[in-house]
Amino acid sequence: MIGNLNHVAIAVPDLEAAIKQYQTVFGAFVTSPQELVAHGIRLAIVNLANTKIELITPLGETSPIAKFLERNPAGGLHHLSYEVPDIIAARDQLTAAGLEVIGDGTPQTGYHNTPVLFFNPKDCLGVLIELEEVKTTLQQGRIEITSAVHTGYHSEKSSLEGVEGVGIRVDVDFRVPTPEDNLEEN
Ligand code: CO
Repeated sequence: MIGNLNHVAIAVPDLEAAIKQYQTVFGAFVTSPQELVAHGIRLAIVNLANTKIELITPLGETSPIAKFLERNPAGGLHHLSYEVPDIIAARDQLTAAGLEVIGDGTPQTGYHNTPVLFFNPKDCLGVLIELEEVKTTLQQGRIEITSAVHTGYHSEKSSLEGVEGVGIRVDVDFRVPTPEDNLEEN
């Protein structure tokens, strides 16, 4: 059901120090800090090739992450954000499975102007989970290499008949994956 990991959010007590560490120690590209007054945070984004890390720090007295930093004064993993194509359908599926949505279940507008919802860490292996509706999210597919063929193509296309070479047959299964697909077959 979930698509890509959109971002990992790390709450930090000192945003400038965190930016400097990611730039100079980890050698990453980090955006300039932005103030998101409506969300009570300042953040900078570490852009990685396959995802983003959001460095977030409280802004103002009523910041939602102030309490988190009281419990984790050195900073810590605050939440993971997964992309879903339909946030209402995803919410209903997760709440039916017994996960507690934070708030009244109405999606809020997140930092990226997309609808977001959070799920209680107590139901998610101790990690706060954010769902973010991204219409273009890639869903998990299943690609299975079923056989490797070392001489000649195996193809339905008559135009390839008789062509010598090295070929790999790839069967792609476009079924919608079910939870059972993730179970080990033993
Ligand atoms: Co987030």
